[in-house]
Amino acid sequence: MYKRVLIKVSGEVFGGKNGGLDYEAISKVAKQISEAYELSTQIGIVVGGGNIIRGIDSEKFGVLRTTADYMGMLATVINALALQNSLEKLGVPTRVQSAIEMKELAEPYIRRKAIRHLEKGRTVIFAAGTGNPYFTTDTAASLRAMEIGADVIMKATKVDGVYSSDPMKDPKARKYDSITYLDVLKKGLSIMDSTAISLCMDNNLPIMVFNLKGKGNIRKIIEGKKVGTLVRGNNGARTKKKNK
Ligand code: GTP
Repeated sequence: MYKRVLIKVSGEVFGGKNGGLDYEAISKVAKQISEAYELSTQIGIVVGGGNIIRGIDSEKFGVLRTTADYMGMLATVINALALQNSLEKLGVPTRVQSAIEMKELAEPYIRRKAIRHLEKGRTVIFAAGTGNPYFTTDTAASLRAMEIGADVIMKATKVDGVYSSDPMKDPKARKYDSITYLDVLKKGLSIMDSTAISLCMDNNLPIMVFNLKGKGNIRKIIEGKKVGTLVRGNNGARTKKKNK
């Protein structure tokens, strides 16, 4: 169903109970991604950094917002390298591109080069967010998805889709099969921050919200099976032209 996808994995997925890196969890994520790779899907990945540092928490301790955000961007680079290592162990060729130049560790982000990697069957991990403070890694995911001409953003979460209210707290919470961007914004459903959602809405890029813990979910979505919730425009049609 999807030929080129952008998968957003939050840092929490990579972290153990006490934060830091949980290598077992990372290899489980890598396994799911390798299943999608076997379908010849072109895969871009944006990783978060919340397992190592959370900007909001640092702010509470008096760290400047901008500084905290840069620290968070560095954390995503650590996660990207860990994920690259796990993916390559499974035979998935991978390139890491960083929005903040650190040539000794990773390639710099170059859109045309990223697309060439994808065309050659390499999975590309985009690290360091957008390279700017005040932008979340969800916004980075929307931006990169647009830049590489992805068919969909696959937003991995801990729940199996978008609910009318928090399913952990409200037993009456109802799961949507699909929902519009506007409804997500109006109802204040916290899938991604509003900047990220607006960017997708303005460019008609669908967002698939799904549970990464569900076995084989990434593969199932790419095969067009009914998993998660699709966030889309009113008519559901894509008008976006693919970037070359
Ligand atoms: P093609 O040119 O399409 O063959 O791509 P390629 O990535 O295989 O070739 P390239 O010579 O660009 O890169 C070879 C290896 O070096 C890859 O693992 C890249 O990720 C890595 N690499 C390329 N540029 C940089 C860089 O600026 N910094 C770091 N750290 N690694 C780089």
